Amino acid sequence: MSSAVPEDVGVVGGGRMGAGIAQVFAVAGARVSVVEGDAAAADAARERIRAGLDRAAERGKLEVSAGEVLDRIAIITDPADLPRAAGLVVEAVPERAEVKIEVLTAAERAVGEDTVLATNTSSLSIAELSAALSRPERFLGMHFFNPVPASRLVEVVTGPDTGTAARDAVLDWVGALHKTAVTVRDSPGFATSRLGVLLGLEAIRMLEEGVADAESIDTAMELGYRHPMGPLRSTDLVGLDVRLAIADYLHGTLGERFSPPQLLRDKVARGELGRKAGQGFHRWE
Ligand SMILES: NC(=O)c1ccc[n+]([C@@H]2O[C@H](COP(=O)([O-])OP(=O)(O)OC[C@H]3O[C@@H](n4cnc5c(N)ncnc54)[C@H](O)[C@@H]3O)[C@@H](O)[C@H]2O)c1
Repeated sequence: MSSAVPEDVGVVGGGRMGAGIAQVFAVAGARVSVVEGDAAAADAARERIRAGLDRAAERGKLEVSAGEVLDRIAIITDPADLPRAAGLVVEAVPERAEVKIEVLTAAERAVGEDTVLATNTSSLSIAELSAALSRPERFLGMHFFNPVPASRLVEVVTGPDTGTAARDAVLDWVGALHKTAVTVRDSPGFATSRLGVLLGLEAIRMLEEGVADAESIDTAMELGYRHPMGPLRSTDLVGLDVRLAIADYLHGTLGERFSPPQLLRDKVARGELGRKAGQGFHRWE
């Protein structure tokens, strides 16, 4: 088994996650084709990737120049132009099943029989997405974390039809990106969202009940359990609206323990969405 990334990689959606995914594969030596919706979105994606590479260069994280990496990345607006020889295509379009199915089926038509298709979904069912594909054995979840270049984890999510060859190839490529893969069976919230959201919801319930203030709850977990960040601060970073949407989904699929606390609903209704809004469970300057 080789420990290199594929020579050609496709990334569909060049937003926050797609730009980071394109960056890490290009830094690892792949030629990357990023598919965006239209010319304006393509320009925005190019700028996002350029900014990410500049940041990496400033921090001394690039062994070659940002320009050299950028030269390996093409932005295209038609998935039919994805390279047929691509070893892997990862989609990172918005979290809506119908949009993901549209781009995955278009990508599947463009590439060869051996290409692995992956979704960066944080919560959608791999089985549901793969039902629309003609080669479900070549499809799985590759759940990257934000920010992609700095994050060390990729959750590899296998659906009911994912073949071992596709899974093993992806595990190998994650290693070539110098990241660690955990393999998780397709199930609501995978491993990370299911555990992370549950901890966050319990912390919010403790705040509601007046067990302690937000700073104390976070400090308790940071110092007592060595979590790098307490559950309320982490909810602020993810976004309270994002957490609420995932909690609602997990409540419906996994049951009452994921029922979102009223305080979370109230804060989202008031626009206190976390760091991006300047206010969540903590104040952000
Ligand atoms: N943001 C996070 O922290 C995070 C973490 C892990 C996983 N995810 C998942 O990654 C995916 C993308 O999230 P994001 O935060 O990067 O979103 P984003 O909105 O920043 O990016 C989505 C990109 O997809 C593009 N797009 C939309 N429709 C398209 C189409 N038909 N063809 C090509 N491009 C299209 C948009 O122009 C945009 O650039 C979602 O499934 C999300 O759940 C996000």
